[in-house]
Amino acid sequence: MTTLATTTLATTTPVTTTLAMTSIIVTTRDGATRTLSATPGVSVMEVIRDGGVDELLALCGGCLSCATCHVVVDPAQAASLPPITDEEDALLDGLDTRTPTSRLSCQIPFDETLANLHVTTAPDG
Ligand code: FES
Repeated sequence: MTTLATTTLATTTPVTTTLAMTSIIVTTRDGATRTLSATPGVSVMEVIRDGGVDELLALCGGCLSCATCHVVVDPAQAASLPPITDEEDALLDGLDTRTPTSRLSCQIPFDETLANLHVTTAPDG
C-alpha cells in the first residue's frame, strides 16, 4: 500500500506585501553624513525631508517651482539618475550654486536602483 503525503495550505494566513526598504546617504551643509531609510515610490526630496533633514526646505512640496530642494549628486552616480527635464534644468539655471551634478531632489523618483545614492544638500543660494 502506498501512502501519499498531504500538504495542507493555511487559508487564513494573511498575505502581506512589504515594500523593500533601502537607503540613501545625505551629507548636510555642516559636513555630517546620515543614512536615511528610503522606500521606493517616493521622491528623494521626500526621503530627505521625512528623514528629518530640515535644511532641505522643499517649499513648494515638489511642484517644481521653488528649487529649495537642490542637492548635489555624487558624480559617480549622476549618470544613473533619470534624465533632467527642461523645466528642472531651467529652474536650476537660476541658482548661483548650481554644479554639474546638481538636481532638484523632488524630481528624482526613488527606487531600488538608487540604493545608497549619495547626495549633498546644496548651499543656500
Ligand atoms: S520642492 Fe520645490 S522644486 Fe523641488
